[in-house]
Amino acid sequence: MGNATIERPQGKLGVMIVGINGAVATTFLAGVMSIRKGFAKPFGSLTQMGTIRLGHRKEEKFPMIKDFVPLAGLDDLVFGGWDIRDENCYESALNAKVLEERDLIKIRGDLEAIRSMPGVFERKFVKRLNGTWIKKGTSKFDLMEQLRDDIRTFKEAHGVERMVVIWCGSTEIFLPANGVHKKLELFEEGMKNNSPNIPPSMLYAYAAISEGVPFINGAPNLTVDTPAIMELAEKKHVPVAGKDFKTGQTLIKTVIAPMLKARMLGLNGWFSSNILGNRDGEVLDDPGSFKTKEESKLSVLEGILQPELYPELYGNFYHKVRINYYPPRGDNKEGWDNIDIFGWMGYQMQLKIDFLCRDSILAAPIVLDLILFADLAQRSRMYGVQDWLSFYFKSPMHTPETVAEHDLFIQMMRLKNKLRQIMGEELITHLEDEMPSGRITHRKLRKAVK
Ligand SMILES: NC(=O)c1ccc[n+]([C@@H]2O[C@H](COP(=O)([O-])OP(=O)(O)OC[C@H]3O[C@@H](n4cnc5c(N)ncnc54)[C@H](O)[C@@H]3O)[C@@H](O)[C@H]2O)c1
Repeated sequence: MGNATIERPQGKLGVMIVGINGAVATTFLAGVMSIRKGFAKPFGSLTQMGTIRLGHRKEEKFPMIKDFVPLAGLDDLVFGGWDIRDENCYESALNAKVLEERDLIKIRGDLEAIRSMPGVFERKFVKRLNGTWIKKGTSKFDLMEQLRDDIRTFKEAHGVERMVVIWCGSTEIFLPANGVHKKLELFEEGMKNNSPNIPPSMLYAYAAISEGVPFINGAPNLTVDTPAIMELAEKKHVPVAGKDFKTGQTLIKTVIAPMLKARMLGLNGWFSSNILGNRDGEVLDDPGSFKTKEESKLSVLEGILQPELYPELYGNFYHKVRINYYPPRGDNKEGWDNIDIFGWMGYQMQLKIDFLCRDSILAAPIVLDLILFADLAQRSRMYGVQDWLSFYFKSPMHTPETVAEHDLFIQMMRLKNKLRQIMGEELITHLEDEMPSGRITHRKLRKAVK
């Protein structure tokens, strides 16, 4: 097993988080620190707990993913990042109220050692926040240069070999891709001329990619999903992935909708409502930020159900997504779905799903997996959009030649087949399972695939 073209993960991996004092970021950090010390298990993480099947099922080869592909180890991660509040991560984790003090106290020193660097912030893009710990600059270009400088300084100060930057910052207002986002040259001019269409998230993305650092976008903002920034990623040979971590309600949606389609059950309506009371909920209470999230959440059903192919089943369904800020719930979101479906002879049925989840508990393992896979992608010399990581996103980025895949299990198959492919293993199509009957063999299958 092995692939000589993938660089081994030597030395430390620097992880810089935008929004490092937020609920997702601090829950992720506290988790990694607790796991390192043996206080917790990495539940929810495919890279840490998942296996991958190799060859025929009967061969019973199911190595752990982390043993199969050369991933950085948790002990090799070094953390830093930016926020618009001057806090250490222990204070922030306490304020986020996701984890209990009894869990945080055990790793207090590790969390206190991480303090945010001042962020780049413009209130116009996140109306419900007031930044107090922010960089000052002569232009957006200058601010971006300051971020590049932070990345270089961090790399040198911590002696890290490689880096990843991940956006766990607040959701910025909805912004359609327009003029300055269309070409790299225009974008660079736009930064110098302080274009009003360049939000802070794009400056972080530009800075990271310019430094040759993979960039992951966990929120639904455009950020790297523009032709201009993709041009930069291609030019610099840097992998990027996004957008919007697929955690609660959309995770469920992308499992239920494929089931309805697989059984040719029709859909009349899908009403999704959420109540949550964390800072993310407060930010999303602003119509501009909500619109960005809404677009991200709405896109999945059309993508999965393909109304153009099945007009009688899915040509006319009503889809509504609501997010309501409700402070008493904190990070413990309630995602409620009412689904009106129909079956044989048009008879109506209903599905009700009430997911009492914890937003950051679901997001933290995704942050870990994405960091490790983005680093793997770079060591495997893959660059541009990493659509094999669609598994983790509500609005998966994709190249102009491909379409977004939303079905969770197709996404997982793609991810695992990508891992098999980069390690030079046979892909799994599940036809191999017919081998014992003698109807199809591996050799025949290989020939057929060629
Ligand atoms: N938790 C989930 O399940 C989930 C799922 C999908 C996406 N997301 C997205 O992840 C992001 C983080 O969620 P959260 O619950 O941690 O929110 P949060 O409000 O707790 O954290 C966001 C952090 O980003 C900081 N920030 C905002 N703008 C910044 C900037 N320009 N530079 C640096 N820091 C900045 C804020 O001060 C805050 O500390 C949100 O955009 C959210 O929509 C979360």
